[in-house]
Amino acid sequence: MNYENIEVRTEAGTVGIITLNRPKALNALNDALMTDLGHALKAFDADEAIGCIIVTGSERAFAAGADIRAMANYSFADVYKGDFITRNWEIIRSVRKPVIAAVAGFALGGGCELAMMCDFIIAADNAKFGQPEIKIGVIPGAGGTQRLPRAVGKSKAMDMALTARMMDAAEAERSGLVSRVVPLDKLADEALGAALVIAGFSRIAVMAAKESVNRAFESGLSDGVMFERRLFHSLFASNDQKEGMDAFVNKREPTFTHT
Ligand code: CAA
Repeated sequence: MNYENIEVRTEAGTVGIITLNRPKALNALNDALMTDLGHALKAFDADEAIGCIIVTGSERAFAAGADIRAMANYSFADVYKGDFITRNWEIIRSVRKPVIAAVAGFALGGGCELAMMCDFIIAADNAKFGQPEIKIGVIPGAGGTQRLPRAVGKSKAMDMALTARMMDAAEAERSGLVSRVVPLDKLADEALGAALVIAGFSRIAVMAAKESVNRAFESGLSDGVMFERRLFHSLFASNDQKEGMDAFVNKREPTFTHT
């Protein structure tokens, strides 16, 4: 399938890579791009061969936010009745395979929020994160006020949302917003390396791990631990559990069948 605003390819047959591609607008996230992204994510999620997905941008910008030009003249009725943001941004939450954000350059506003919707963020050393919506008379609208404090705590989240200051890659790593920082020219390899590792594991266990970590953000500790325990128990019904443990015991590499 050909897309206008993203590029899509696979690596090693098991990793799906989606590159945001609106260079003239620093990958500003307009409706058409988000529709393309949602479609590509769903397609990779449904593809049996794919074990992990990477979302990335250019060296200059992961994404500089929702498209300000496109929304500048929207009315309340337009955005409320049209379910603006929710209508095509929430698809990423329904993706069950891991999604890595590989971020270089600006990840601002909706760009920062999109990165935070992914399962983890690997950043290049030139990455800059921010929620500058306050400068244009609004607030984050794709989960920034909710996911950012969960990632970096209240004080830094308030600082970013209220002053619009950007966080560089080093601070983002220190604060727990990103899992790793690498030199810009190593970003693609680092993200691909992580994705290949994930794609090599049991798909069932990987999906369960993702589901269980995400549950930590939706439940109290006791409920979350119970949820994890049940998923853990259920994995003993998989062939991959038998294979993984047998391979360890017999000092050989496992061959997972994702069953
Ligand atoms: N929407 C639309 N166009 C954008 C854009 C955006 N979010 N960000 C950048 N662009 C466009 C610029 O208008 C410019 O286009 P032209 O060349 O046609 O004028 C082009 O991308 C290059 O941008 P700049 O010339 O501004 O580049 P710069 O290097 O001087 O500055 C920047 C880079 C700091 C990222 C600056 O572009 C900027 O501040 N962008 C806006 C960031 C922002 O406010 N994001 C939040 C958007 S609201 C939102 O996301 C709501 C939500 O929560 C979902």
